[in-house]
Amino acid sequence: MERIKIDALLKSEPVGEKKLVKGWVRTKRGSKSVNFIALNDGSCIHNLQIVADTENFSEEVLRKVTTGAAISVVGEISESKGSGQSVEMIAEEIEILGVADSEKYPLQPKKHSLEFLREIAHLRFRTSTFGAVFRIRHALSFAIHDYFNKNGFYYLNTPIITGSDAEGAGEMFRVTNFDLDNIPKNEEGKIDFKEDFFGRETNLTVSGQLEAELGAMALSQVYTFGPTFRAENSNTSRHLAEFWMVEPEVAFADLKDDMDLAEDFLKYIVQYALDNCADDLAFLENRIEQEDKQKPKDQRQPMSLTEKLKFIVENEFERVTYTDAIDILRNSKPNKKKKFNYLIEEWGADLQSEHERFLVEKHFKKPVILYDYPADIKAFYMRQNDDDKTVAAMDILFPGIGEIVGGSQREERLSVLTEKMKDFNIPEEEMWWYLDTRKYGTAPHSGFGLGFERLVLFVTGMSNIRDVIAFPRTPGSAEF
Ligand code: 4AD
Ligand code: MG
Repeated sequence: MERIKIDALLKSEPVGEKKLVKGWVRTKRGSKSVNFIALNDGSCIHNLQIVADTENFSEEVLRKVTTGAAISVVGEISESKGSGQSVEMIAEEIEILGVADSEKYPLQPKKHSLEFLREIAHLRFRTSTFGAVFRIRHALSFAIHDYFNKNGFYYLNTPIITGSDAEGAGEMFRVTNFDLDNIPKNEEGKIDFKEDFFGRETNLTVSGQLEAELGAMALSQVYTFGPTFRAENSNTSRHLAEFWMVEPEVAFADLKDDMDLAEDFLKYIVQYALDNCADDLAFLENRIEQEDKQKPKDQRQPMSLTEKLKFIVENEFERVTYTDAIDILRNSKPNKKKKFNYLIEEWGADLQSEHERFLVEKHFKKPVILYDYPADIKAFYMRQNDDDKTVAAMDILFPGIGEIVGGSQREERLSVLTEKMKDFNIPEEEMWWYLDTRKYGTAPHSGFGLGFERLVLFVTGMSNIRDVIAFPRTPGSAEF
């Protein structure tokens, strides 16, 4: 008999038919005469209730049906008398595929804290919460490819190991094949990278943008979607040392086109989740509501998860210049509790996530696109505006998250770009390939980067970025 997944079974409700299911036991309860087994196979948030009359099975088999065990069951589907599910399976055969010693199995049939589950990231997929998170993560990544495919973008795979620092922020992890106990040095006592595998200094990429620009200058519209790495202090609930970034790059597009693309793209993806992940979203929404009940009123979520997602889809994003945003922050009242004073902001300073969230959640009550940032706080490749003080950059701010997207129009004018590189101490000879696109057939072009985990964080309503990537890399953590 062919196995049916629980999702398909619950959707088709084949009452009266005999079916085969396989999965992992979530709970077992019951009496002397009957056992109720909740089985989950990862295909959906729901468990299938399996009813096993004790007289039909050996005591040994039923003893091995414990939380975490893998089992295979054949039985007839019948209408369920209990509430909560429409159908159940009346077991005829139960095979134990893999036992899970209930004395030792770390996942007990009770609610575990997310902190505890992070320590057993290899098993946390088996909880309802993480099942929902990873199914939604999958759906979002599918939606991203779907959006770009429908809109004429080509998926470009940019290198993980690279010789350049795209953001010029120096937050890179080095890559080398050197024997660390015996690093070759030159006469000046400096590391001799000629001896290295690549014959030069290399690092893990911080962004695929520069290479995506090369692709866009021929294919017109490309996007990357791959892992990126930052050796920054990522001990926050919004930062990872290894995260996935989505980076579209478009030729013949200016900053306004870039903002239009980003807004349309984000709305499409969030709507896709609303349309395709209803059960998982409902589970997570309920989970957040239950947690909120334990919290003091002022710490509760101002919107339900569904309301938050609709907030993105239904609102036109507010587009505000950095300069206007600074004025708003300066003129706003300081936070009552004085935990954070919005008045301190000066023109030229980088906004902190508290500022960003204030603008979105308190001031505009809409998703916000901030643009035209001071040149000094942004990367070298951003296009200089006519005021000579600002660059054509934009950040998109979401409630609860702050910056979710960062993008810009790129500096396509060779002389302006090389001047800028001098100011930023970026040697021209290292970037000859990048400058070639400005020498040969240069054209206005723009793009942005979406932090994929920040998107998953937003859509699932989880509160820590470590809980939306399977195996988080943060300072001091690189197990598995
Ligand atoms: O703003 P960032 O640094 O921009 C770039 O890397 C550009 N090259 C993108 C481009 O224009 N193609 O990063 C883009 C986004 C941020 O808005 C944020 O969502 C996410 O990447 N991000 C991180 N996510 C998780 N952990 C980190 N340490 C992150 N750093 C950035
Ligand atoms: Mg940024």
